[in-house]
Amino acid sequence: MQKPIGVLLAGAAVAMIGGPSVAADLERGQSLHDTHCVICHTTSVYTREDRIANTYLEVRQQVQRWQENTKLRWTPYDIDSVTEYLAGRYYKIP
Ligand code: HEC
Repeated sequence: MQKPIGVLLAGAAVAMIGGPSVAADLERGQSLHDTHCVICHTTSVYTREDRIANTYLEVRQQVQRWQENTKLRWTPYDIDSVTEYLAGRYYKIP
């Protein structure tokens, strides 16, 4: 989807005010996750014995898949933030 250039510039300005740029935002990841993702399952799906995801990429694929299923229209930044949060806190993978 094409965004007007003004929106992109505004976004960049906000990012600069926010300090050094980071690949993902753990706090944002946690709040997005806690708002949208614990409706169907508790966090125990991430630590169950036969869990699907075992690498960072696989966790990201699952996050991508679930935000698609639930029509959240997350940005790649949102997906990275939630992945980072889940991978670090539950999957214990860097
Ligand atoms: C409509 C119900 C539902 C919602 C909403 C939902 N999930 Fe899930 N999720 C499931 C079910 C059921 C499974 C396990 C079965 C499967 O993976 O097919 C699962 C599995 C997962 C797994 C894989 C766990 C493993 O085995 O490693 C991840 C990661 C995950 N969900 C993340 C999310 C995230 C992130 C969101 C929010 C965007 C979300 N889910 C929202 C139902 C849901």
